[in-house]
Amino acid sequence: MPAQKTILRALAGETLDTPPIWMMRQAGRYLPEYRATRAKAGDFLSLCYNPELAAEVTLQPIRRYGFDASILFADILLVPQALGADLWFVTGEGPRLSTITDQAGVDALKDPDDIHEHLMPIYDTVGILSRELPDETTLIGFAGAPWTVATYMIAGKGTSDQAPAHALKSEIPAVFDALMDKITQATIAYLNAQIEAGAEVVKLFDSWAGSLQGADFDRYSIAPMRAIVDGVKAANPNIPVIAFPRGAGERFKGTHAAIGADCIAVDDGVSAEWVAEHVQPDGCVQGNLASSHMVSGGDALVSETRRIVDALSGGPHIFNLGHGITPDADPENVQLMIDTVREGR
Ligand code: CP3
Repeated sequence: MPAQKTILRALAGETLDTPPIWMMRQAGRYLPEYRATRAKAGDFLSLCYNPELAAEVTLQPIRRYGFDASILFADILLVPQALGADLWFVTGEGPRLSTITDQAGVDALKDPDDIHEHLMPIYDTVGILSRELPDETTLIGFAGAPWTVATYMIAGKGTSDQAPAHALKSEIPAVFDALMDKITQATIAYLNAQIEAGAEVVKLFDSWAGSLQGADFDRYSIAPMRAIVDGVKAANPNIPVIAFPRGAGERFKGTHAAIGADCIAVDDGVSAEWVAEHVQPDGCVQGNLASSHMVSGGDALVSETRRIVDALSGGPHIFNLGHGITPDADPENVQLMIDTVREGR
């Protein structure tokens, strides 16, 4: 029964003897079986929009490792594409999009309710997964948070400092706000459709939250995520939400209540001991082993994994990395991390 799944128990606030575990980017280029399926699909976006193959790569790390959760295979930039932005990936460089710089650009985007036809293959992937996943595995849907998605839509690519988005936000705030609002509304519609198709949990990725300073952090990271949680919970009151304001540092404190999230995912910029004291008292936390351990392995991997498990053993915890696993990771190190988390089980 769903209530027995370990991830859902942790999200409901239960402290488990062994934390459930999954990994950001667990379906990815570090796995030979992923690279083989991706080669069959052609490019990354073709894989995202092919429900059979996207479901296949989602299932690969579940078969290999028996993770407690799987995350839908898709990308946060599919929402801008569904809104009408051009999107492509340059090998070795990353995503490219048509840029939004003025009100005409925002006005040219589709109505947030008109994204579903474009995103239908994603909902089909969710449907396949909810039928094919093992009974004990939780299916997590996701979307990007508005600030992070906006940084890509404004710059037309990934940036190290999000300077174009910061510039638009201060120079033409009305355009920036209109874009944020459009992304927010589309994201609510997208996540609710994923839930209708079978997602049991949804996660919001605010990968660039850390570059927002002072009042901007509350206004452009926390408040839009809050609006999305409210919009999801209004339609689906029992669906748990994980929020990931990456790079928040000491501002992770208080985010459960501010966002209305059931779980806060923390990166490795804060220690597990600090998280236990300042964040976990408010609810479930997810994290936060540095993904570099998946490359380097060895005793440090084992001791850091044990330290994080111990530090967060007094409350609800889902074990994860602090950010996505990288393509140069060794699949055997992933097994070592899982064995270490589950030792003594
Ligand atoms: O966690 C998962 O495995 C679920 C699927 C997922 C992907 N991207 C698959 C993917 C999720 C949740 C994302 C989120 C995402 N996508 C974020 C936010 C999370 C984060 O990592 O901070 C961002 C910023 C993106 C945009 C994006 N997509 C970038 C910057 C890249 C990297 C480009 C590169 O070549 O490394 C992608 C591509 C991408 N998304 C890959 C995967 C597995 C690699 C694709 C490939 O070449 O096969």
